[in-house]
Amino acid sequence: MSQASLGSREHFPDLEAAVYLNHAAISPLSLPVRDAIRRTTDRIAAKGMAHYHETLDLRAALRERVGRFLGVGASSVAFTSNTSQGITAVAMGLPWRRGDRVLIFEGEFPANVTPWLEAARLFELEPVWLSAHSAMEDEGRFLDQVEDELRRGVRLLAVSAVQFQTGYAMPIRALGALCKRHGAELFVDGIQAVGVMPFDCTDLGVDYLAVGCHKWLMSLEGSGILTIAPERLAAFEPRLASWLSHQDGLRFLFEGAGHLRYDRPFIEEALVLEGGMQSMVHNAALDAALDALESLGLDAINAHVNRWNDALEPHLNRLGLQSVRSSRLDSRSGSLSCRIPDHVAITDLVQALDSAGVAVSSPDGHLRFAPHWPNHLDEVPRVVEALESALEG
Ligand SMILES: Cc1ncc(COP(=O)(O)O)c(C=O)c1O
Repeated sequence: MSQASLGSREHFPDLEAAVYLNHAAISPLSLPVRDAIRRTTDRIAAKGMAHYHETLDLRAALRERVGRFLGVGASSVAFTSNTSQGITAVAMGLPWRRGDRVLIFEGEFPANVTPWLEAARLFELEPVWLSAHSAMEDEGRFLDQVEDELRRGVRLLAVSAVQFQTGYAMPIRALGALCKRHGAELFVDGIQAVGVMPFDCTDLGVDYLAVGCHKWLMSLEGSGILTIAPERLAAFEPRLASWLSHQDGLRFLFEGAGHLRYDRPFIEEALVLEGGMQSMVHNAALDAALDALESLGLDAINAHVNRWNDALEPHLNRLGLQSVRSSRLDSRSGSLSCRIPDHVAITDLVQALDSAGVAVSSPDGHLRFAPHWPNHLDEVPRVVEALESALEG
């Protein structure tokens, strides 16, 4: 099979929508990812238990690769089932003190709110709210508001790298610097960013990053990644630990009698949070999905996607759909969202586009276009035509 190439759907021969713009929701699986999944299930079918031993090396190699991709060492990487599991592991695992303040944001996807509110309830923390949308209106003022709260004392700030409904890329580097200055920890839900823009946790000053792999990473649902900065690992309390969280936790299965103990120390790496068996199918899918992203390069993918969005945006405004995409390049992500006029029913509009072969979604009432590397600029006229007839009809 030929290599992934920007603007080519060759890896997606079964994709039904003529124009697929839902990568911010769920990405379709490419042929290489499907092959990797099939090869893995074939292997399990043939080998059963013996396959487990093979997987240990593969998983260790993937941990290294994911670490390089995200700017951390392998010991900072844990595999999870989704973004939520990563967020919950951190929310439940910090050595909280009663009264600690947690800065969260109105407008965020609920996955990055509920676990912090649960932690607040269980550990008697004080949630502090700011508006995420105010970053879009005036980023300088937003950062001042954040700093005011940090001065009052914040233990952890939890934010998404990209807001799910507007596609606004939050100022993560500036937030990282502010958190560092005021002794707070920075948690980032990166699911709307990782895979479509470069994201280096160390460079950005991110202490914890949680992502799911089914959106911009273009892998399977049910798999995610959590990273924990090395300097945060020592203080971490693995309250969700289980049998594979222990050092030498497998010896009692493979090395005879006398190794069954419950007091082995915990592994001092992020994988302490994995607890039990992981899915090699998900690992293999992610490994294959990374091949395309790495070979194309995240800068090139981001530029490609934004060229696509640049071509569509003026038409949206002409049709009375108000783009909320940032005019500043560094606040753009892969998504282009717009507000629709009051007289248009968004569910009808999404349905009409779908019937015309254009797959989009409408998170929180915004019409969202989310192209990725396989989308071609030639698709834009078809999307415009579909919008024109849907809005006329
Ligand atoms: C910002 C954000 N966080 C989290 C999620 C999903 O979380 P999970 O991977 O736990 O389903 C989504 C979208 O589904 C999202 O847009």
